[in-house]
This record gives sequence, structure tokens and C-alpha cells, in this order.
Amino acid sequence: MRLAPSILTADFLNLGAAIGAVAQADEIHLDIMDGHYVPNLSFGPIVVQAVRKTTDLNLSAHLMVTNPDSMAPWFIEAGCSLIVVHAEASTHLHRSLQNIKNLGAEAGVALNPSTPLEVLEYIAHDLKRVLLMSVNPGFGGQLFIPAIYDKIKKLVKLRQAWSCSFDIEVDGGVNADNIGMLAQAGVDIAVVGSAVFGPGDPGERLQRLRRQVIESQAHLEGRK
Ligand code: DX5
Ligand code: ZN
Repeated sequence: MRLAPSILTADFLNLGAAIGAVAQADEIHLDIMDGHYVPNLSFGPIVVQAVRKTTDLNLSAHLMVTNPDSMAPWFIEAGCSLIVVHAEASTHLHRSLQNIKNLGAEAGVALNPSTPLEVLEYIAHDLKRVLLMSVNPGFGGQLFIPAIYDKIKKLVKLRQAWSCSFDIEVDGGVNADNIGMLAQAGVDIAVVGSAVFGPGDPGERLQRLRRQVIESQAHLEGRK
């Protein structure tokens, strides 16, 4: 399972150092909040451009905004290789995904905790990634919603039934207590925010989480 640190809870006065500390990550997760779709504002393309200059890691933009079609191009231009839009925020989701791909980026869809997986059925082949929210979007540091374990397992089965290859990402409340179970449930990529960018060294915290993933996967192999 890959790990994607979200910089939302990083030290914004030392963002370059924060990103440098997680150089062992698999990609950087950028939480874009517009104060409308979610009750919080984060940052825009100017910050993303600066992030692009400070790391070689892939950048993914998680757009928690009411008008993803008009904002997606900003973040592609700023250097994101993957754009994730909320199914609930896009009026014409198929069109939103095509627009992103036409601009040369990969496209993903995020689903809020209460949104059923069935909305993915007719766009599944267009997706590089499905992001399952495991908190209600808007803030870092919230508690993981346990019902999402079943949602992950169901999506793993649906992906096979639909003969698709999108990655399954989980976002929100991922920490040392649940990361092993998420790996075992079939998550391909986990967003880690406050579990990495909190007290202590972000690089060490990331590596500790990675060790837990490896241990839980070894445990699963041992049980087979
Ligand atoms: C929530 C964001 C998440 C979140 C991750 O709206 O999409 O990426 O900030 O932070 P933690 O891991 O602290 O929940
Ligand atoms: Zn996010």
C-alpha cells in the first residue's frame, strides 16, 4: 500500500522543509477547499506551484470545491498529475473526467462517506483512482468512520466485477491504529495527514506507518 501525505496539517511557514521530510512518500496529496463545498478554505494553485518546485514526487489534487470543472485546469497547470473530483460536486461527472484527461492529467473520483458506490458503475473505466472519504471532508485530524471498511471491501469486489484497474484510495483519519487493517482490506493508497504532520518528525512518522503496513501485509501472507 502506498502512502500519500496530505500537507493540510503541515507547518505552512516551513512547507518546503515539511515536504522534504516526507521525501520517502509515494506522492503528495493536496487538499483544495473552497469554503463552499466544504466549510473550510485551504490553498490554491499558487501554493501548488511552489510545492511543484520543491519535490519530484507526483502531486494529486483532491478538489473539495463546488465548481471542479473550472478549477481543475488551474491545478493541472500548476503541476498536478492526478485530479480527483467529488462525484457529489460534479453535475456532469463523465464530462468532468474527460475534461481532465483532455488536459493531459489522470482523473479520479472521490465519494463522501454516505455516497453509494453505484455512482461509479458507468464511469469506472475512465478512472485512474477512486478516493473513498473515511471522514466528512473539510478538516484534518478527524476520526475514521469504521463503516468504510465494508465500503472498501465492496469496492474491491466491484472493481473485479467491472474488470477495472483503478486504484482505491482512502482519505481521512488514517493512523497507526487502522493502517494495517486498511492495507488488509485492499486499499492501494492511503492519505496520511495528521498522523504524519503532527508533533514529531514527519519523516520518522511516515516510516513508522510504512513499517506497520509491511508487518500487516506479512501477517496476512502468513495466514494464507
Ligand atoms: C479532509 C481531507 C483529508 C484530511 C487528511 O477533508 O481530504 O485529506 O485532511 O487528514 P487526516 O489524515 O488528519 O484526517
Ligand atoms: Zn484529501
